[in-house]
Amino acid sequence: MKTVQNIVSLKGERKIICLTSYTYLFAKIVDETGLVDIILVGDSMNEVLFGERTTTTIPLDVMIWCARSVRKAVKNAFLVFDMPFGTFHTEKVALDSVVKVVKECDPDAVKIEGGKNMAEIIKKIVNMGIPVMGHVGLLPQKVRITGYKKQGKTEQSAKEIFEDAKAVEESGAFSVVLESVEENLAKKITESLKIPTIGIASGEFCDGKIAVLEDIIGLTQPPPKHIKPYDNIAQRIYEAVVKFAKDGTTEQSQK
Ligand code: KIV
Repeated sequence: MKTVQNIVSLKGERKIICLTSYTYLFAKIVDETGLVDIILVGDSMNEVLFGERTTTTIPLDVMIWCARSVRKAVKNAFLVFDMPFGTFHTEKVALDSVVKVVKECDPDAVKIEGGKNMAEIIKKIVNMGIPVMGHVGLLPQKVRITGYKKQGKTEQSAKEIFEDAKAVEESGAFSVVLESVEENLAKKITESLKIPTIGIASGEFCDGKIAVLEDIIGLTQPPPKHIKPYDNIAQRIYEAVVKFAKDGTTEQSQK
């Protein structure tokens, strides 16, 4: 079983590799590579699996059901549950939600979007014994306000993101995701924090990288701009379905 200490000790040693997985089958394949340090059951499943416009409409119970299946598949990686919109905006709601998540799907840690505004809540969750991964920069749960654009381009916004990352570290989080953060700012944050930074669309200098599995295998069509897919699984599924449909036999022989 991987611990928080295992993950933190990778800072400065090698890149920390993180991928999302939302369901048992995919999580099993990802985990069996033995090359992925952290598997995130991300609220991005709402867009990727369910075709919703944002991450914000996903019910907590749907994420918990998916995470239960992922938990059964993951034997090597550190498993993080992404707290969805509306489940951690007050201290009481946050603690109740985290207790429910831990009881019902047993992740190794939870992820919370937000910086300074979440500091007290992160502290309380950590004090309860549940490790927290922070998430600053572009916050998909706040996309109605920010849009999906690169963060940290102005002096003021760079200062705020830097302070957010510091606040997350000081609250006791074991790592922090930097999403769509301007590259030099991501570098400065990475050099200033003791905990690992995990980058997505934030350049080369973070301690780790995270991606959505369906994006890197070419299942998300079209792939997001910041992603280079390593395969075209959508095309391969399409071709397999066509072959199945055109195959004259009704059943595959068991012999
Ligand atoms: O929900 C998600 O998949 C995420 C990562 C992309 C960081 O939050």
